[in-house]
Amino acid sequence: MTGIEELLLSRIRDVADYPEPGVMFKDITPLLADPAAFTALTDALAEVAASTGATKVVGLEARGFILGAPVAVRAGLGFIPVRKAGKLPGATLSQAYDLEYGSAEIEVHAEDLTGDDRVLVVDDVLATGGTAEASIQLIRRAGAQVAGLAVLMELGFLGGRARLEPALAGAPLEAL
Ligand code: PRP
Repeated sequence: MTGIEELLLSRIRDVADYPEPGVMFKDITPLLADPAAFTALTDALAEVAASTGATKVVGLEARGFILGAPVAVRAGLGFIPVRKAGKLPGATLSQAYDLEYGSAEIEVHAEDLTGDDRVLVVDDVLATGGTAEASIQLIRRAGAQVAGLAVLMELGFLGGRARLEPALAGAPLEAL
């Protein structure tokens, strides 16, 4: 394990049985509260943005906002929020996706992405991949290219990486 991997892992707190019994929640607030760890994470994600040739950073509500916004600033790129339905005031594109029980919907301002954009999606956790997959569909429907997906951590046992392969279509998936 590299030094940065050790640093980041050491600042992620496992919380058992949250938000419901049987779930081990990955709490990133200790990492956010540690300036060395948060800076190292931001720098690493900004390197991914540069290496993929991204022109914009999309962050996924809500923890993807916390991580993605400083990455955009560090990389000198614009930040675009993908929000849960009903939160954006302008004309939006919407994408529904299935959850274990029920469904969810995310939205982006249609004017924020154009055919000239290459978009890096940033989030904290890749779990089943449903949220990331829907965001990639939104980006493609807006006419933009997907530069890649960068997450702090990937819960490999949930199979998100395999699920995302068709949507990513060769674009990189980086899990720090
Ligand atoms: C969590 C996490 C990812 C998503 C991953 O967000 O931050 O966005 O779930 O799950 P998936 O790969 O199975 O789609 P959540 O919906 O809990 O929203 P929050 O960040 O607003 O708490």
